[in-house]
Amino acid sequence: MSNIKPVKIWKLDLDQADDLPASDSFLFPEVGGKRKTYLCGHSLGLQPKSAKASVENELKIWHELAVEGHFKAPSPWVHYLDPLHDMMSGLVGALKSEIVIMNSLTANIHFLLAGFYKPNGMQTKILMDSPAFPSDIYALRSHLKVRGASEGDLIFWQPNAQTGFFEIDDFEQLIRDHQQEISLIFIAGLHYLNGQLFDIAKLTKLAHQYDILIGFDLAHAAGNVILNVHDWQVDFACWCTYKYLNGGPGSLGACFIHKKHHHLSDFFQGWWGNSLENRFDMKPDFTPASGALAWQLSNPPIIALAPLKASLEIYHQYGMQKLRAKSKLLTAYLEAILLELESAKFEIKTPKDPEARGAMLCLHCKDEGKDIFELIEQHSIVVDYRKPNTIRVAPNPLYNSFNDCYLFTQALKITIKA
Ligand SMILES: Cc1ncc(COP(=O)(O)O)c(C=O)c1O
Repeated sequence: MSNIKPVKIWKLDLDQADDLPASDSFLFPEVGGKRKTYLCGHSLGLQPKSAKASVENELKIWHELAVEGHFKAPSPWVHYLDPLHDMMSGLVGALKSEIVIMNSLTANIHFLLAGFYKPNGMQTKILMDSPAFPSDIYALRSHLKVRGASEGDLIFWQPNAQTGFFEIDDFEQLIRDHQQEISLIFIAGLHYLNGQLFDIAKLTKLAHQYDILIGFDLAHAAGNVILNVHDWQVDFACWCTYKYLNGGPGSLGACFIHKKHHHLSDFFQGWWGNSLENRFDMKPDFTPASGALAWQLSNPPIIALAPLKASLEIYHQYGMQKLRAKSKLLTAYLEAILLELESAKFEIKTPKDPEARGAMLCLHCKDEGKDIFELIEQHSIVVDYRKPNTIRVAPNPLYNSFNDCYLFTQALKITIKA
């Protein structure tokens, strides 16, 4: 039985939620004209209502100005990313010059590895979390392969057998055991399958004590938790923008490259990474744009970026501090009412400490998780299921309410008693 009192949490919410975002800034899926309870923003964020106007605006400019939109639009396309980089840097605690929005997440993992993974002599191995999101392991493995290392040159940081969570002591032990062989560390910031938020500052400090570079996949952390990647001295990071950041299905990825690495020149280049002064000279010389912009490859897809712009504007309006404060309350409330169910049919696998998790709770089902998931769906509740038995639920402070959490637990209650 939980000793957290849901009632107390409700009160806290009412006191603090006055100027928090309203769900009416977003469009919800519906069934039979009735809004579904959407708790799946960790997978695909909802559409901001302002996204449509943002896209239509760029379509109109394309219609009216065509190629001249690059330089003559009210927000010229050649500078379109500028305000997005501004807002994104604020969200993750980076300098604006350390951010570039481009490509997709997996593509960016490859491009960042091209610049940061430098196998040298005995130092060929990459330390990563395991299980990791499959795309991350495919990307790391393929780099090992094409750079002449062995595909098996991966060292895995795994959940501790006693606690069930990733422990920093185990991480340090792995570095100590393999310090002569590790070339790079690349891990998640917030784990996609158990919802554990890693202590990114501490992990980075440890890696640097052993002179090892460290990068993070922040797919589940960006827009979800407070990040200070610049001050934490993280070497590099990347994330997608379609989860908490509501940029739309398959929306572009983002990269962070710490200022201390802006002198690097051996990374993969494209014409859009050329400084603006030289970009249109069409010469073979590459004069890098300043900072992370030098890593940009291509002409950015304006229509695809328009929904992300709309969403970042909403984030910018409220700020991460306020959103995270509401998020902690929502998730604590969800946890408290789930614990009240006291069912042997599931267990919460996410850390109890609010500082060691984001919005998402991962439920480990004892029986067939898929059956439970499908029954919950019948109550117009959208969560997600990961094989073999994990159901992930994430109240997003931008558009979810305490009532959404309550409706989910009621549906789960009916389902597990059925
Ligand atoms: C942790 C993590 N890494 C990588 C990916 C792959 O992202 P993409 O399909 O944008 O390359 C995802 C997608 O959900 C993810 O959650």
